[in-house]
Amino acid sequence: MSQPSILIINGPNLNMLGVREPGVYGHDTLKSVEERCKALGAELNAHVTCFQSNHEGAIVDAIQAAHGVQDFIIINAGAYTHTSVAIRDALLSVSIPFIEVHISNVHAREEFRHHSFLSDKAVGVIVGFGTDGYEFALRKAVRLTAS
Ligand code: DQA
Repeated sequence: MSQPSILIINGPNLNMLGVREPGVYGHDTLKSVEERCKALGAELNAHVTCFQSNHEGAIVDAIQAAHGVQDFIIINAGAYTHTSVAIRDALLSVSIPFIEVHISNVHAREEFRHHSFLSDKAVGVIVGFGTDGYEFALRKAVRLTAS
């Protein structure tokens, strides 16, 4: 594949990064995370598109719109991770491989964060490495799409 297209999706409240519970999520803003990922994408010869929404249906729409356009999805669905059959179904409907990312170690937090509707269908899951997790996921996504 010449230049893979990779979509990074962030769900609800991730637009509040930098302001939101910095002890849990750190000080980086979403804009800085997205810029870092775009720069890394350019370095790795991948086309990176970023999308964020606080709305479940808008995330479903973005996943559906990725069909035939994107080669790989990196998704932090935020709280919808733990609740959304619709986002799971959307990911399955487009058959685009995806990596699930969480900034915090969800397994060291409240029990309701331990279950994910996405993990069993993900290529892999990256949790607890802060916002570096997006870059780890991107490197792996590029390797997988190139092979
Ligand atoms: C999160 C973990 C979720 O439980 C939470 O609802 C979020 C962020 C994370 O990146 O650590 O919004 O996905």
